[in-house]
Amino acid sequence: MRIAIGSDHGGINHKAYIKEYLTENGFEVKDFGTDTPESVDYPDIAKTVSLAVRDEDFDCGILICGTGIGMSIAANKVRGIRAAHVTDTYSAKMAKQHNDAQIICLGERITGPDLALEIVKAYLGQTHLGGRHSRRVEKIMEIESL
Ligand code: RB5
Repeated sequence: MRIAIGSDHGGINHKAYIKEYLTENGFEVKDFGTDTPESVDYPDIAKTVSLAVRDEDFDCGILICGTGIGMSIAANKVRGIRAAHVTDTYSAKMAKQHNDAQIICLGERITGPDLALEIVKAYLGQTHLGGRHSRRVEKIMEIESL
């Protein structure tokens, strides 16, 4: 499984922690930065990771900023991307099962590191359920053409 990961300066600690876990557990992870506390603009990272998930051979993406909000707003502007801002494990599961989100967004200033890791595990363990959920996802994607 190939995972694209990125954060702004507000998410570098979670990114390092999550990346270490994923790498140690056999996931292939590509890190799109940032790697220092120097301030960067989260839309730049969200755009790069979202385009990679959409156009390259990644199974999913993880974006982290201070709250997770900016990353999710920006990622959802990329045509074809469904990014879910998640702060609990149930929502992380539903993001895949119901919404077929290709990206989850976390907030380092909101969610502690252990819970963030549980959220990632919860999300990665799921598959999209299809059926009526596919119809709804298709309707979401139709909104992009408005
Ligand atoms: C950066 O200070 C902060 O605005 C960013 O990490 C994120 O929380 C935005 O939504």
